[in-house]
Amino acid sequence: MNVTAVAPGRVNLIGEHTDYCDGFVLPFALPHRTTVTAAKTAESRWSVTSRDETVLFDLSNKVVGWAAYVAGVVWVLREAGFDVPFADLTVESDVPMGAGLSSSAALECAVLTALAELGGLDVPVAQRPSLAQRAENDYVGMPCGIMDQSASTLCRAGHALFLDCRTLETEQIPFDLTGEGLAMLVMDSRAPHAHVDGEYRMRRAACEEAAASIGVAALRDATLADLSLLDPHLVPLARHVITENQRVLDTVAHLKAGRVRDIGPLMTASHASMRDDFKITVPEVDVAVETALQAGAYGARMTGGGFGGCVLALVDRDAVTTVEGAIHKAFAANGFNPPAGFVATPAEGAHVL
Ligand code: GLA
Repeated sequence: MNVTAVAPGRVNLIGEHTDYCDGFVLPFALPHRTTVTAAKTAESRWSVTSRDETVLFDLSNKVVGWAAYVAGVVWVLREAGFDVPFADLTVESDVPMGAGLSSSAALECAVLTALAELGGLDVPVAQRPSLAQRAENDYVGMPCGIMDQSASTLCRAGHALFLDCRTLETEQIPFDLTGEGLAMLVMDSRAPHAHVDGEYRMRRAACEEAAASIGVAALRDATLADLSLLDPHLVPLARHVITENQRVLDTVAHLKAGRVRDIGPLMTASHASMRDDFKITVPEVDVAVETALQAGAYGARMTGGGFGGCVLALVDRDAVTTVEGAIHKAFAANGFNPPAGFVATPAEGAHVL
């Protein structure tokens, strides 16, 4: 018996570097997704094949490289007490890699969904994001928060996922841009990524240090008045998290009230905060945001962990080509790699086909 499962990549509408501060995020799933086909095997091991490369593993040795995301999921399910069947897995994906669109989470969540189905494992959907996150934190060794795995698992078509990263409560927020004559343009800056993991770790550690100095469990609990308690180098970092959490709440309020265009300025303010306070942008994404705004976008921001990746621009549907063209031109003028654009519509989270 074969089972096939899919899990999508995501963009985050707003709420960046807030998830590991127990804060709020608002991602939606992309139509781009990873497909995993699984079949039981009589061999006492797992195999995973992607693009003509096959990796065999049995958890007696640590797997490294891309297959670690797969072995990590097997490992975490077994740690949680599930009897994961030995299996041959095949992976295909159209989620762009290294573009900050959560190709890793899509892989983890597709593998988890496929193995749970194949083994008839009763893994509650609500627990799946935490399991996939643990695979990445404790097996792969990347200290990510819970946003990407939650988005890939829990998002619904036509909605953004409002997630409280402390309580893990979720709310599906209707996000229909087409009905409003709007579109979300995603531009992959294709900026070369460097030191992303190290920069991410440093930001996370600094946020934890700031929370400890203030005397709260996480920056979710801090206010702007608390900034005076901090060592000066932590002030802008904490200010980003505190203001960003509020921007997520304001964005949700606008969307619930049907004021979709009003989220634009919040997106732009989020970008400024990532650029000036959290310091995770690069010239390519700053130019893309500036250019989108000059070309008429209601708002624009980098999405994802930073140091490259994609920019979101909220634009009128009939302005997509103009804004995309302006960004291409600006990139050429600055000598950057050509960017790659697409219009994103909120898609469905992980499921069995
Ligand atoms: C990466 C991480 C997420 C989150 C974002 C920043 O995508 O995997 O957990 O921290 O960066 O918002």
